[in-house]
Amino acid sequence: MKPDFWDTVRILIANGEPDEALARIAANWDASVTPNPESADATAAAIAGTGDLVGALAPLNAAIESGTANFHTYFRLAEYHRRLGQIKNTLINHRLAHAQFGWPESLAHGYSFTHDYFSPNILIWENWFRVHITAKPIEALEIGSWQGGSATWLLDKVISPRGGRLTCIDGFEGSSEHVGLMETLGTRLEDIFDDNIERTGHGDKLRKLVGRSQVILPTLWGENFDFIYIDGAHEAKFVIQDAVFSWGLLKPGGFMLFDDVGFKFADHPEQNTGRAIDFFVSVFGDEIQQIDCRGQLLLQRSK
Ligand SMILES: C[S@@+](CC[C@H](N)C(=O)[O-])C[C@H]1O[C@@H](n2cnc3c(N)ncnc32)[C@H](O)[C@@H]1O
Repeated sequence: MKPDFWDTVRILIANGEPDEALARIAANWDASVTPNPESADATAAAIAGTGDLVGALAPLNAAIESGTANFHTYFRLAEYHRRLGQIKNTLINHRLAHAQFGWPESLAHGYSFTHDYFSPNILIWENWFRVHITAKPIEALEIGSWQGGSATWLLDKVISPRGGRLTCIDGFEGSSEHVGLMETLGTRLEDIFDDNIERTGHGDKLRKLVGRSQVILPTLWGENFDFIYIDGAHEAKFVIQDAVFSWGLLKPGGFMLFDDVGFKFADHPEQNTGRAIDFFVSVFGDEIQQIDCRGQLLLQRSK
């Protein structure tokens, strides 16, 4: 197959033409070629695009059987199992995905993430925490914790080895895009978070503050953090408040990370996080050094 074959397949799927994508795959199929993560992922996406979620599992499982599976293979399996209502398989495949990205603690401790918003960032976070965010001990603040994806990783990989503390702020009521989803979790969001944190064995290094960040952040005035992760409400009017309050809590030379830089809702532009981030960066620009931007924006406060 030509190198760009799978790109073409993906474009067809994105354009709502999964049948045409499957026809191209069938026409180019070579049974002698070992299934690989890229072909498995694209073939599964094409099959899922036709509505056949059970069928979508097959190419991904074939990649596992052939020994070529990677993070994305397990991550996709987790997603398809969730859409099929098979939550146990979702949890297991998320853990197996994490192990592929050097986070075996997730499998060993049995963390439970029905919706995993964090792990695709692991490799880039590893790099950031190795090269840039090197404070030791480290005081970290997270706005928006959900089921504890980023919090458990930070406890396992950063806070526990270096010492320090992680403060998590969340109302545990979900964000605006979670409407309709919260009832499907089967358990209270905060209970899932608590269980995952307890399983890390590092719960003593975490402070949980329950409530809206726009109310809690001003009460932290006088505290200082080396790293602040903003991943709470997506509405620009809330993100700008989170950013401004947090900036005053950041040590000189400390780092602030924004999630959802490119978050865009055609029908709900008030939820476009990027509007607030762009405004914040333009207003505070003389105190900011932009470190990296790959879906998430990493800034450093001038010393
Ligand atoms: C995308 S999730 C965070 C994902 C999390 N960092 C992870 O790694 O899985 C957003 C979280 O922000 C919380 N949230 C939304 N609006 C908030 C607000 N105004 N104050 C505090 N938490 C909020 C939601 O309850 C939700 O758990």
